[in-house]
Amino acid sequence: MLNDTLGINAAGHLTFDGQDTAELAKEYGTPLYLMSEDRLRYNCRLYRQSMTEGFGPDSMPLFAGKSFCLTAMYPILAEEGFGADVVSGGELYTALCAGFPADRLYFHGNGKTDREIRFGVGAGIGYFVVDSPEELEAVSDLARSMGKKQKILLRLTPGIDPHTFAQVNTGRLDCQFGVPLETGEAMAFAEQALRCPGVELVGFHCHIGSQIFSWTPFRDAADRMLRFMRDLKAKTGFVTRILNLGGGFGVRYTEYDPEVDIPASIAALAEHIKARCGEWDLAMPQLRMEPGRSIVADAGLSLYTVQALKRIEGGKNYAVVDGGMSDNPRYALYQASYTVYSANRANDPADMVCTVAGRCCESGALLQEGVSLPAPKRGDLIAMCCTGAYQYSMASNYNRVGRPPVLLLSGAGNRLIAKREEYPDLVKLDL
Ligand code: LLP
Repeated sequence: MLNDTLGINAAGHLTFDGQDTAELAKEYGTPLYLMSEDRLRYNCRLYRQSMTEGFGPDSMPLFAGKSFCLTAMYPILAEEGFGADVVSGGELYTALCAGFPADRLYFHGNGKTDREIRFGVGAGIGYFVVDSPEELEAVSDLARSMGKKQKILLRLTPGIDPHTFAQVNTGRLDCQFGVPLETGEAMAFAEQALRCPGVELVGFHCHIGSQIFSWTPFRDAADRMLRFMRDLKAKTGFVTRILNLGGGFGVRYTEYDPEVDIPASIAALAEHIKARCGEWDLAMPQLRMEPGRSIVADAGLSLYTVQALKRIEGGKNYAVVDGGMSDNPRYALYQASYTVYSANRANDPADMVCTVAGRCCESGALLQEGVSLPAPKRGDLIAMCCTGAYQYSMASNYNRVGRPPVLLLSGAGNRLIAKREEYPDLVKLDL
């Protein structure tokens, strides 16, 4: 099995977090997203403890809300000592609705509108992560007009290529996020921030990419950021208090993916940063990291029911299920790999190679190819593993298929944390 959240019980059913997935499918229907609270908290603690040990008690992991943004996430994050990043007024609203402490929120995004800026400043959020010179002026002016001084970080692009897939590679020079270090624009950006009366510059942010399996790209990014902090200090006397290195540690979607040792990676990174700060005579900044995927991905699992098996002569075997790119667009978008098991016949020989096809009306709307399953028949249950990140948050209503519910599996009792989207929900915005 892919990881220790999974097992097979005496009935031959796949278990997730110790619970019978076929029973859960019967009780809640499919498609169904499951989320394990224990795994989620375990992943949070890996970051919290490793960062405290490596970087000291004033460091803090921030959850990247874009990976899984639901009201129920935020009380868990608050209890686990996390902050959070938000990238839109909608994510900010969700966190605030959940009562998440506003001062632990970091507002990212390259296209913030005046309305969103006012919302964030008015809500008293901790930091804006300012993405462009235009946004800097806007935050400063709007904060001033509201009688406030807003704390900010500046987003810089360190020009590191972590060799991940192109769609999620965001630290390169030529991209739409942040301001590049290499061209000298970052220095001008920081000097502009120091002159803006409505903001207080506290530090810097970078994010180099996603699904990164080694700590060394983070080391290289940190080096460039620290060098910049040293140059800025020499030029202006400014002392950086917060350094945010973004998110991006990878997860095991399949047995071919390596496992990241998060505590060891963070310890190595911390040692490197401390040494560099000593060498370059910099005060050790408070560190932030922004994991999303590595907090929620392996805490999630999706269940589907097979509706048909199409055996194409000279072609593939298509197991057509009751969900698809509307609840998980990642294969259609990125050809993302997943591990797929039979949920109701987990002990049967997996003797048929299948393409798991979604129900959405286009030929690219597949969920996975080359999957070995016991020859699926209508009514069989299929589990896709490691689906906690960027599934629910990227789901759509394409074909007016409602989004599945999310069931939080918990020792304290299972709890729906998002309802199934029903037909009336689908027309509620129609005029
Ligand atoms: N911080 C910033 C500024 C980010 O842009 C991201 C992800 C993260 C943190 C979290 O990265 P993580 O730890 O989750 O790798 N939709 C794509 C992923 C896009 C990630 C974009 N930024 C996918 O489904 O793989």
